[in-house]
Amino acid sequence: MLVLSNITKTFGGVVAVRNMSMEIEKGELVGLIGPNGSGKTTLLDVISGFYKPDSGLVKLDGAPLNRTPPFERAKHIGRTFQIPRIFSRMTVKENLMVVEMNEEKALQLLEMVQLSRLADEYASNLSGGQQKLLEFARTLMMNPKIVLMDEPFAGVSAPLIQRLSDVILQLNSEKKIAFLIVEHNLAALFKVCHRCVVMDQGSMIADGSPEDVSRNSQVIKAYMGE
Ligand SMILES: Nc1ncnc2c1ncn2[C@@H]1O[C@H](COP(=O)(O)OP(=O)(O)OP(=O)(O)O)[C@@H](O)[C@H]1O
Ligand SMILES: [Mg+2]
Repeated sequence: MLVLSNITKTFGGVVAVRNMSMEIEKGELVGLIGPNGSGKTTLLDVISGFYKPDSGLVKLDGAPLNRTPPFERAKHIGRTFQIPRIFSRMTVKENLMVVEMNEEKALQLLEMVQLSRLADEYASNLSGGQQKLLEFARTLMMNPKIVLMDEPFAGVSAPLIQRLSDVILQLNSEKKIAFLIVEHNLAALFKVCHRCVVMDQGSMIADGSPEDVSRNSQVIKAYMGE
C-alpha cells in the first residue's frame, strides 16, 4: 500500500535519511525505532510531504506522491506529532469539526478515545496524554488508510498508553487501518506492533518481528552507542 523507494533527505551536510526503502501493507502495524537523531521523524515528514526528499519516491496504492501537497496527502495519511498539534483555544469537539462539520462523527470518535465527557472543554485544559488522544481522534476524521504516529506514548500516563494502544488495535482490526509508529518506549510499542523497522544514522539496520529486532546485535549496538 505505502511504498518508499530509496528515500534520501539531507539538511546541509547532515544526511538525516539515507536510501531508505520499505513497504507497508494494508492493515499492517509497523514500529519505527532507533536512537535519537537516527532520522525517524524526518522520514515521517517526507511521507507526509512536509519535506521533499533529495531523491527517492513515496507511493500510495501505486500512485507517486511527489507532486501531492501535504494537505492532500493528509486525506489518506494521518499524522500525529511528538508535541501534539491541537487548537488549544477551541473546544475538544471543535478540534475535530475543523476537519469536517460532522458532529455525529466527531462525537463517535471522542467516544472511542473516551474523551466524550470533555467534548465541550477547551483543549488547553486537557492533560498531555489526553491531547495526544484528541490529536489522534482528529486524524481519524479523515478516514485515513494509514496513520503515522511520532512518539504517541512519550510523556503519557500508563492508563492512557493502554487506552491509546487499545484504540490503535481496535481500528486496525475493525477498519484495517495501517500504522507506522515511532516510539522509544519499546515495551509498549512491541505490544501493538507486528513488525519493527530499525534506523541508525539515517539508514535501515533491521526489519523484522519485535522479537527478532530486539535480539539483533547491530540493533543492540546502535542503542548502546559506540
Ligand atoms: N530541520 C532540520 N534542519 C537541520 N537538521 C535537521 C532538521 N531536522 C532534523 N535534522 C537532523 O537530522 C537528523 C535526524 O533527525 P530526526 O529528528 O529525524 O531524528 P529522530 O530519529 O526523530 O530523533 P528523536 O528520536 O530524537 O526524535 C539529526 O541529525 C537532526 O539533527
Ligand atoms: Mg523524532
